[in-house]
Amino acid sequence: MKVKLRPSSLLLLTSVLLSTSIFAKNQSVDIALDTHSPGSTLNKDIYGQFMEHLGRGIYEGIWVGEDSPIPNKAGYRLDVLKALKELKVPLLRWPGGCFADEYHWRDGIGPRESRPKTVNSNWGGVIEDNAFGTHEFFTLAEMLGADTYVNGNLGTGTPQEMADWLHYMTSDAPTTLVEQRKANGRDKPWKVDYFAIGNEAWGCGGNMTPEFYTSLYNQWASFAKTPQDNRPIMIASGGTDDSTVWAETLLKGVKPSWNIRMEGISHHYYTLPTGKWDVKGSSTGFAEDLWFSTLQQTLKIEDFIQANVAVMDKLDPDNKVGFYVDEWGTWYDVDEGTNPGFLYQQNTLRDAIVAGLNIHIFNRYAERVTMTNIAQMVNVLQAMILTDGEKMVLTPTYYAFKMHIPFQDAQSVPVKLSVEPSYQFNGQSIPALSASAAKALDGDTYLSLVNTKVDEPITINLSDIKQASGWLLSSPNMDAHNSFDKPHNIEPTAFNAKVKKGKSEIVIPAKSLLVLNLGKL
Ligand code: AHR
Repeated sequence: MKVKLRPSSLLLLTSVLLSTSIFAKNQSVDIALDTHSPGSTLNKDIYGQFMEHLGRGIYEGIWVGEDSPIPNKAGYRLDVLKALKELKVPLLRWPGGCFADEYHWRDGIGPRESRPKTVNSNWGGVIEDNAFGTHEFFTLAEMLGADTYVNGNLGTGTPQEMADWLHYMTSDAPTTLVEQRKANGRDKPWKVDYFAIGNEAWGCGGNMTPEFYTSLYNQWASFAKTPQDNRPIMIASGGTDDSTVWAETLLKGVKPSWNIRMEGISHHYYTLPTGKWDVKGSSTGFAEDLWFSTLQQTLKIEDFIQANVAVMDKLDPDNKVGFYVDEWGTWYDVDEGTNPGFLYQQNTLRDAIVAGLNIHIFNRYAERVTMTNIAQMVNVLQAMILTDGEKMVLTPTYYAFKMHIPFQDAQSVPVKLSVEPSYQFNGQSIPALSASAAKALDGDTYLSLVNTKVDEPITINLSDIKQASGWLLSSPNMDAHNSFDKPHNIEPTAFNAKVKKGKSEIVIPAKSLLVLNLGKL
């Protein structure tokens, strides 16, 4: 049967075809990599993770106990361990967050059956049985080969309690505390790579002013002693969002001396789709307005980092103090039917795009931003992994981090775009293309690209390259995600572009993250 098209139908069909990616001319961008002027080293800890005693982040998500029917090794669930090993997690921050300022470390050592039960007053008021404590944390870090970041309790602890914890963890002296650690099963001291004095001092950590906290920091840091050859990087709790006053007050008020060190200032920024805490937006089932606003909100972090780095460059010109974004990521309304105190949310392609954009920004400021932690690793906020009983799924954010493994400890390579395409929505505009490049430890140069647009591909032109193969994470659906019923719904696919005489023209699909290995340049 032949179908005859009337001229008006032909016109409609032509205009539809022209507006689709097959026939429409994509925006084309030449990308130049300046391999001769390498930038800063991208400290692997930029890709760090945060694990707090919050909801099912640790209990069930990582730790199930030795007697659990869920397959485990000494209490750590095997599926999650395997996934985290494959992610090459460089750094773990523990035990909080807000939880840290009410955590008494002695509750979490010794035989598990005699550890006290306490209330987790920040997160759902649930009973904390302290089964996961200092030894369990360091064992996990050792199993993963990850650096360690311990957050001390300034809010409800004492300088003595903090000093004792540091001594217990780091000393080899024949003291009663060290004997206790040995009796609890750990002979050698651990390496605490980073140690923070308090968390969010402006909020859950004690509602302090920057001046008051700065005085406390001076006092507490004076007693936070460790052996000379086993010293953590000492971190002060800093500001949030657009605030620069915390960095400024701390840098002016903490004068390093023989017994005070401040080598990092922390900063927190969460991406809320609506920008409002009362109704943040949901993790799935959103329309383009919330796709766009989420990316717009997340990109603000660049201004916040820039403003703080400007203050720090003035007050610390020798770059002795790092700017650590030790909590970042998306924060949505909790998924329906889940405990509001557990901060459980699904994780979609939108989260992977958020992760890619943030990673690119951190890479750009890597001289100062040498460590960050996404919040949080398992079952909480923008998680890498979600679990439900014995089931586990890997999220799009997990894959975004996995695709960036070659960037760990790589040398950043400046990237120039011939034009900066924009993504316009409802009269507002954000960049449509984001890029970051680095020469990895294997000698190859990697290029990471994000196309933020919902329905338009972008063409890029590369020259002087050897190859262009890697991984693409994309989907026709903005909220594509992996559920326990469909655990492989969205995963990276292998991507191979043709390279002829060192040149390649590559179409980056709409809403996608692409990481390419360009070979040895
Ligand atoms: O990551 C969840 C919470 O967010 C942390 O406990 C706190 O530091 C921040 O407010």
